[in-house]
Amino acid sequence: MVAVVEDTTPKKIPKVKGIPIVGNSIEMGKNPAAFFAKCYQEYGPVYQVNVFGRKQIVIAGAEAAKFMSTKAGREGLRSKEFWDDFVNHFGASKTLTQIDGEEHRRMRNIMRAGFSREAAEGQYHKIAHFIDDSIARDWKSGEMTGVLEAFQYMIVQVIGELMSGEAPLEYVKDIRINILFLLNTLVARVKPKWYLKSPKFKKASKRVDELGEKTVARFMQHAEDGTLPDNLLGDIMRAHFDDPEFVQKRDLAVLLTGPYVAGLDTVANTVSGAVYGILKTPGVLERVQAEADALYAKGTVTSMDVRNLHYIQACIKESMRLWPVAVGQMRTTTKEIEFEGFKIPADEMLIIGTSVPHFMEEYFTDPMAFDPDRYSEERKEHMKPGAYSPFGRGPHTCLGQNLAEVLMGMLISRLFYRKHLALESPDYVLKTKSFPTPGPAMSFKVKVEGERNPATPLTPEVMENV
Ligand code: HEM
Repeated sequence: MVAVVEDTTPKKIPKVKGIPIVGNSIEMGKNPAAFFAKCYQEYGPVYQVNVFGRKQIVIAGAEAAKFMSTKAGREGLRSKEFWDDFVNHFGASKTLTQIDGEEHRRMRNIMRAGFSREAAEGQYHKIAHFIDDSIARDWKSGEMTGVLEAFQYMIVQVIGELMSGEAPLEYVKDIRINILFLLNTLVARVKPKWYLKSPKFKKASKRVDELGEKTVARFMQHAEDGTLPDNLLGDIMRAHFDDPEFVQKRDLAVLLTGPYVAGLDTVANTVSGAVYGILKTPGVLERVQAEADALYAKGTVTSMDVRNLHYIQACIKESMRLWPVAVGQMRTTTKEIEFEGFKIPADEMLIIGTSVPHFMEEYFTDPMAFDPDRYSEERKEHMKPGAYSPFGRGPHTCLGQNLAEVLMGMLISRLFYRKHLALESPDYVLKTKSFPTPGPAMSFKVKVEGERNPATPLTPEVMENV
């Protein structure tokens, strides 16, 4: 009998065909999610792309998503290098996204409560009030509203009030420009560094520094007065006083303004995509309105009520599937890793294409359709292992995930409860942008046709165990 010897020779990583000089940059820049998915179909789970001459390995698909949470993935991948330039730009020693291992676990523990769903507990009546405030300002009946920008203001108002007790609305544009330039040049590296010399960036950056300094001064004063609040920013300050070597003074500005970097574009893109899907897809709007009306008819809203908005939450999930804000995660290998028969050397900068399965028939029936029912108990398409990763995977998975879900539930339910909205025209097709975070384009507008329900305040929820 002849023994069958398994071929253990590592496979050769295929190079994705591109055009001279720019390589794959243009196609990837236009629609990164579609590009990674197409390459996966053509080349398999590991391939090399060329971004303006920089060769970058991509590992993609459900196996790659699952790999991130395995022991080999947790130990074999780090985040540091992609965020180093960002941290240095602020003259800080660290950010949560840039550290790994034990110090990352420690920092996540400091921030866990402040970024958790519980941070919104007992505050739903206030959240509804902030949303109403922003609806009165930016969603006037009879006018067209730029959806993304209006949500950006709404989110800064809600996140600012919840996490710091103040909403820096006058800084929204500066925060956005700052994020856009910094993520493009220093983290995703799809723009050259000289981009940061632009007067537009310099002005915005100065204003964000000013916001950081003011916030640090306000919280230093709280600390002196013994009035540090019980929220994320309060926790960061307490951690600084407990161990000034770990949470250094020079880290405070970037840590205290961090929630805006993490939550502004991510939430704004997702709820904007949901608005489009709801208005565009026949039969969806009526079900969203019915669920929203039932919620606010209660007069008091709790965290459980918002989590139980099954249909609205499914619309939000569908938006995160079709327009994932994090198309892939960027990591460096800490050592040689083996993945799907390929050997990837140590210190290699990788993109992990976790969103690729979002667009695969194998996991999602008719994947390009906006179909909230795919998340129903009967279908649960997103529960297939590795299929759905809008909040990333592994140790750096989104710390604000549960909070984001309830905030987005409030944003969508309150907006559709309060206003009649319609697309510019029924045949309008959403335009998308790729950077700094992929999602609906700033040009996406809706008609605010009129009021459905008045801004009746909610009664504060009665907290158990208080
Ligand atoms: C639709 C909404 C959101 C989406 C899709 C989203 C997605 C993500 C993803 C994919 C990551 C992982 C990045 C990586 O692994 O490199 C991440 C990290 C993070 N997100 Fe979110 N996010 C959202 C909203 C929020 C909100 C509202 C907050 C808080 C205000 C938040 C806080 C964070 C933090 C602190 C991290 C860093 C975690 C770490 O490095 O350990 N996110 N988010």
